[in-house]
Amino acid sequence: MSNELIRLEQVYKIFGPQPQGRAFDLARAEVGKDEIQRQTGHVIGVRDATFSVSQGEIFVVMGLSGSGKSTVLRTVNKLHETTSGQVWVDGTDVQTLAGRDLQAFRREKMGMVFQHFALFPHRNVIDNVGYGLKVQGVDKTERDQAAMKSLALVGLEAYADSVPRELSGGMQQRVGLARALASDPDILLMDEAFSALDPLIRRQMQDELMDIQREIRKTILFITHDLNEALRIGDRVCIMRDGAIVQIGTPEEILTEPATAYVAEFVRDVDQGRVITCADVMVAPVPIRADISLEEALSQIGDRAGAFVCDDAGRPEAILTVGDCLRVGALGSPVMTSALRSDFDTTSPSNTLNEVYAAAGRGLPIGVVNRRGVLIGDLDPCLIMEEMGRVEGLIDGFERETYL
Ligand SMILES: Nc1ncnc2c1ncn2[C@@H]1O[C@H](COP(=O)(O)OP(=O)(O)OP(=O)(O)O)[C@@H](O)[C@H]1O
Ligand SMILES: [Mg+2]
Repeated sequence: MSNELIRLEQVYKIFGPQPQGRAFDLARAEVGKDEIQRQTGHVIGVRDATFSVSQGEIFVVMGLSGSGKSTVLRTVNKLHETTSGQVWVDGTDVQTLAGRDLQAFRREKMGMVFQHFALFPHRNVIDNVGYGLKVQGVDKTERDQAAMKSLALVGLEAYADSVPRELSGGMQQRVGLARALASDPDILLMDEAFSALDPLIRRQMQDELMDIQREIRKTILFITHDLNEALRIGDRVCIMRDGAIVQIGTPEEILTEPATAYVAEFVRDVDQGRVITCADVMVAPVPIRADISLEEALSQIGDRAGAFVCDDAGRPEAILTVGDCLRVGALGSPVMTSALRSDFDTTSPSNTLNEVYAAAGRGLPIGVVNRRGVLIGDLDPCLIMEEMGRVEGLIDGFERETYL
């Protein structure tokens, strides 16, 4: 992977008095977490975690409570030492750092946002945001400048002089984000940063984070127990269970190729159409010419629902569907142009299936066009329905496997 900024290699974290003893042997032998706890009294925090996060990527770790998400994150800034394995951040072996070096490294490289981080109640917003810089000995003028800049990123410049209790929960969380951004770190570590917010505010925060990210291109390790949130903001999503990584993939991969029945179960509850884009489902268009016979047109359409007729620049002008061919043919008119219709829908490849769902309901193929209006894909309404139903099918497959 290009430009990796964070890398974990076969990281284990075991909690208990003798983490490297029998519990570790059992963990490596893939004995279950509960069983290890029963036999040794040790708790598996993380088991054999390997992944890397590229510069500028939002990497989301998702899993149920106790699956090891926070523990993984804490190995990155060495709030936890690993039981075994290595953690690299920007080429530095984090485990070798201690004392002042470790503190300086955390300060320079990473900003952190947590679910319930404490703002200082008696300091105003700008001082809260600049606090980390103050600790670093940055003088007041400079840190106020930096604080205002990051407050602007989260849209709270106007509240610089307010105190935390005058802000809503969502605003306070944005102050937390601004504080993490104030020292301009390469990496943001966000542990359930939005989980305490109500759903609407939470979605706004997700949108805002993605907007800010477009501007500042940080490397973000984001923890959540909400798959919808993970799929929404993650460039890649890592799913954990009982301390182990079950799957790493893009949101599309997680949705369409869940690696295990466990992942498929999660995915079942997700609105597929919100994540899968037209580009994922469209097929290459095979336009037809308008000056051919109906018969010829039908044979060129083949097993598709229809085909587009394009102008010289490749922009769709009309559509010929099999249904219209048959209808016009039955009237005894062999002229293909009389079967053409121009009331078709077009969409951009980045639109989600939900966004074209209503159009698909008309039953006509949808033209996928680029910015210049050129036809680049053909979206058969049946393909959309099939794609939305695919995961259900996958789950059935897994369920059958477990009975075999
Ligand atoms: N300091 C600790 N001492 C002992 N056990 C711990 C410690 N920290 C975490 N654990 C255990 O390690 C496992 C993973 O915990 P972790 O906090 O990483 O889970 P999580 O995925 O972040 O869960 P949540 O969604 O509830 O925050 C759990 O079984 C937990 O009990
Ligand atoms: Mg946690």
